[in-house]
Amino acid sequence: MAAIVTDYRAQEGSETMNPNGKVALITGAGSGIGRATALLLAENGASVVVADVDESGGNETVGMVKAAGGEAAFVHADVTSRDDVEAMVAFTKKTYGGLDIAYNNAGVGTPGARFPDAAPQDWERTLLIDLLAVVACIQVQVPVMKERGGGVIVSTASIAGLMGYMPDPIYAAAKHGVVGLTRSMEFLQAEANIRVNCVCPGVVDTPMIRKVRDNSDPEAKARAEAMVAAMPLIEAGTIAETVLDLIRDDSANGVAMAVTYGRPPRQVEAPIRFGRPDPAQERRG
Ligand SMILES: NC(=O)c1ccc[n+]([C@@H]2O[C@H](COP(=O)([O-])OP(=O)(O)OC[C@H]3O[C@@H](n4cnc5c(N)ncnc54)[C@H](O)[C@@H]3O)[C@@H](O)[C@H]2O)c1
Repeated sequence: MAAIVTDYRAQEGSETMNPNGKVALITGAGSGIGRATALLLAENGASVVVADVDESGGNETVGMVKAAGGEAAFVHADVTSRDDVEAMVAFTKKTYGGLDIAYNNAGVGTPGARFPDAAPQDWERTLLIDLLAVVACIQVQVPVMKERGGGVIVSTASIAGLMGYMPDPIYAAAKHGVVGLTRSMEFLQAEANIRVNCVCPGVVDTPMIRKVRDNSDPEAKARAEAMVAAMPLIEAGTIAETVLDLIRDDSANGVAMAVTYGRPPRQVEAPIRFGRPDPAQERRG
């Protein structure tokens, strides 16, 4: 049986997107993984637009980038608002002249009771932020990237987008959606020189996880502790490095890149790829 998990190794010489001198837009960059990626991209010469609904966190990230000698600007954006998404991309173009790299990273878990007990407004919000907003961001970003002849889009899915995730089934559904969307947008490279990839982190040491672990509800806290026991914490900087690899590597397109504790990042392939002949699926007769 063919393995569906393959080792990923960036191919030397295949780099095409050097962030130096490019313009990057990162959602959810006021904290955690988004902030770590803003710092890394700026360190590698990109001008970074830090987008977040959290103004103080976003401005703090900009301050950190500038203190390290990089270039960044904050834009307030709630990614669930189409107007905000359009304004965020327009701000990027106005401030730095265009858009080359987009990292759609803002995300949340479902608060309160676990599905199916969860309140409809709680699980709807998860799907809105973690999936529908990613769709909207990509839709608004692509035409602006086309103006510069191409670009790279990375989204943050999750390892919960590649496996069953009992603590939060709705989060898993949203992240599976991001993986499916990413794999299905591979055609954009041929059509518009835009590569679309996603990163699928295991459990990362960020405020998102810290909040769940500090939960006052003993049942939710126990679920969080069980999760951390099963998957040890990884640093946000490790995810940022993988995002940078996905941006740089021209061979990475339509890729879901898993990053879990203690193993190198690896591309998780779908069992079959649309349009690619699979001898096992040939019709008989
Ligand atoms: N921490 C983990 O273990 C882990 C694992 C896998 C995937 N992820 C994903 O990584 C991404 C980043 O999470 P993190 O761990 O850095 O969490 P975090 O809470 O530290 O950061 C998330 C950021 O997104 C912002 N945000 C939330 N809703 C928003 C909205 N509507 N509009 C704009 N910004 C919004 C928050 O203000 C925050 O700054 C998320 O998509 C998350 O689902 C996290």
